[in-house]
Amino acid sequence: MAQQVRGVVAPGRGEPVRIETIIVPDPGPGEAVVKVQACGVCHTDLHYREGGINDEFPFLLGHEAAGVVESVGEGVTEVAPGDFVILNWRAVCGQCRACLRGRPWYCFNTHNAAQKMTLEDGTELSPALGIGAFADKTLVAAGQCTKVDPAAKAEVAGLLGCGVMAGLGAAINTGNVGRGDSVAVIGCGGVGAAAVLGARLAGAAKIIAIDLDERKLATATSLGATHTVHAKGTDVVEAVQGLTGGFGADVVIDAVGRPETYKQAFYARDLAGTVVLVGVPTPEMKLELPLLDVFGRGGSLKSSWYGDCLPSRDFPMLIDLYLQGRLDLDAFVSETIALDGVEAAFDKMHHGDVLRSVVVL
Ligand SMILES: NC(=O)c1ccc[n+]([C@@H]2O[C@H](COP(=O)([O-])OP(=O)(O)OC[C@H]3O[C@@H](n4cnc5c(N)ncnc54)[C@H](O)[C@@H]3O)[C@@H](O)[C@H]2O)c1
Ligand SMILES: [Zn+2]
Ligand SMILES: [Zn+2]
Repeated sequence: MAQQVRGVVAPGRGEPVRIETIIVPDPGPGEAVVKVQACGVCHTDLHYREGGINDEFPFLLGHEAAGVVESVGEGVTEVAPGDFVILNWRAVCGQCRACLRGRPWYCFNTHNAAQKMTLEDGTELSPALGIGAFADKTLVAAGQCTKVDPAAKAEVAGLLGCGVMAGLGAAINTGNVGRGDSVAVIGCGGVGAAAVLGARLAGAAKIIAIDLDERKLATATSLGATHTVHAKGTDVVEAVQGLTGGFGADVVIDAVGRPETYKQAFYARDLAGTVVLVGVPTPEMKLELPLLDVFGRGGSLKSSWYGDCLPSRDFPMLIDLYLQGRLDLDAFVSETIALDGVEAAFDKMHHGDVLRSVVVL
């Protein structure tokens, strides 16, 4: 029987979100209904509300979540009712050309639940990133559920479902940071701070955190940054070179995603170094660089989708490290809030007051 639960809905472009009754159908083949326990507030939710992603209003927001599987549909074998899971927004298909080449983290055919959740009047909802977890329960594709150790707190575990994984993965997967490397991270919000943590986990010897906000630099230091650069009025490239014997960093991670920060990242890396773009640019942004510099500086320029993570490989491993006290994920939970606190949380995020506000249900 379809269920009625509460959900946070963005009704139209720029309009404040509101709590509505939503209808969650029983899971069909390959689907699961998850009882959400916690869901972080991410910039992408705000982008949806502002119409910056697409126009398919109304949206059911929320996508950084953990919870317990309540029921599964026909043919689901990977999870069962009662499993504690983190939701992911890239359920890999196993059959596309990327998957078949053994590179499932690039899957070009990720999928979501086939059925739609609706408002009471039958209006179909568009769940944010195919999840929609600012709700008591949500319907997803079973492949979007990754089972992890239930000893982890849901408000912490859920964060691996988006921004924190993107940052950790930008360092450990895409950037392939290794023992002894020098790493610079431009922009130390939730994503960049996680990149700092990832660089430390990977054994980087020098981790340079760069931000315009003193508070973000302080957090980055507590997570393992060895040096900080306040970007306002500073030549960031010179500052990074000055901290790396005049050469630049082996890996520079742009967790802002603007042409000017990308250029800083490009020139602040050592010859043959790596640039990782994990911040998401907007459609009107353009990049201009001398092509000879692209050639002459060698190395690699990479983008990081979702930290190039493979949820089935990375989520359980990272949760285990967290439970062993080797990965400080607690630091990302700035506050826990109720379902009606999402609009206020957008405000705090906008002012840089929090790394993450997390809705606890
Ligand atoms: N690639 C992915 O899969 C993925 C996943 C989640 C989020 N993201 C993106 O990552 C980016 C960061 O997300 P977030 O949640 O950390 O956002 P955030 O707003 O919390 O953090 C951004 C940080 O960058 C700093 N900053 C802004 N301009 C700067 C500049 N010129 N120089 C130095 N620092 C600057 C801000 O002070 C802030 O601390 C966003 O673009 C987001 O959309 C990407
Ligand atoms: Zn695939
Ligand atoms: Zn997100």
